[in-house]
Amino acid sequence: MTSEHDQAVARNRAAWDRQVETGNEWTVPVGPEVTAAARAGDWSVVLIGYEPVPRDWFPATLAGTDLLCLASGGGQQGPVLAAAGAHVTVFDNSPAQLGRDEMVAERDGLEITTVLGDMRDLSAFASWSFDLILNPVSTVFSPELAPVWRECFRVLRPAGSLLTGFMNPDVFIFDEQAADKDGELVVRHRLPYSDLTHLDAAELDRLRGTEVPLEYSHSLAEQIGGQLDAGFVITGFREAPHHVGPTAEYMPGYFATRAVKRA
Ligand SMILES: C[S@@+](CC[C@H](N)C(=O)[O-])C[C@H]1O[C@@H](n2cnc3c(N)ncnc32)[C@H](O)[C@@H]1O
Repeated sequence: MTSEHDQAVARNRAAWDRQVETGNEWTVPVGPEVTAAARAGDWSVVLIGYEPVPRDWFPATLAGTDLLCLASGGGQQGPVLAAAGAHVTVFDNSPAQLGRDEMVAERDGLEITTVLGDMRDLSAFASWSFDLILNPVSTVFSPELAPVWRECFRVLRPAGSLLTGFMNPDVFIFDEQAADKDGELVVRHRLPYSDLTHLDAAELDRLRGTEVPLEYSHSLAEQIGGQLDAGFVITGFREAPHHVGPTAEYMPGYFATRAVKRA
């Protein structure tokens, strides 16, 4: 029997496919000039908002690095990192998002492996398959995090690192409709937030109608504590404003961590 969580992930697959059709900015692939520059050594990628990932979160050279772009479809990070020399696998729950990476790979002559699946289950990969995992903001769409961190730990080689970006759960306390309409911040929700449990029936119907992915706030204990529980050591931390909405004036909307699998 399909669990409620599995149903939510299946719904989000269709929703992200739809985001590709409607042009969500996180589905728009990089142009050929970006991969050409990356081939020449000039590259950067984002994990949170528009902030480039610190260069020293990556190995000195990407050549020969086995890199998993986790829930990172859209033809954005994967092609840049492949052009910079990494052996890139892009794993994502949306066929249309993976299609973006495949399109860029074909267009720009890059080797990129794409794998469709749910980030709670990385059984498509053997243990110790990767040196580095890059996971731009996407755990907000996953009903559970503990399996994600466990699987990341398993598929990384010793001393490998997990770079992940995630939402500041505090942004979820506000009424989204009021924020969208008047830019007003009205405290409404108790944390942890989930669209499925916190919206009324009409709001949930509207969300379903617009085919927007379901979101979950997750606590910092799940996000940071969960990585530590899986065995990681956190060696880097950054924050950035939420790139949409009025909360940016008051608080960081995103956090990013660099976590290392102890050798
Ligand atoms: C905001 S986009 C992130 C990718 C984008 N390139 C970026 O820079 O932010 C979120 C991605 O997470 C993927 N996703 C959502 N839920 C997922 C899941 N359970 N397993 C794997 N990928 C998932 C979506 O299909 C989407 O491509």
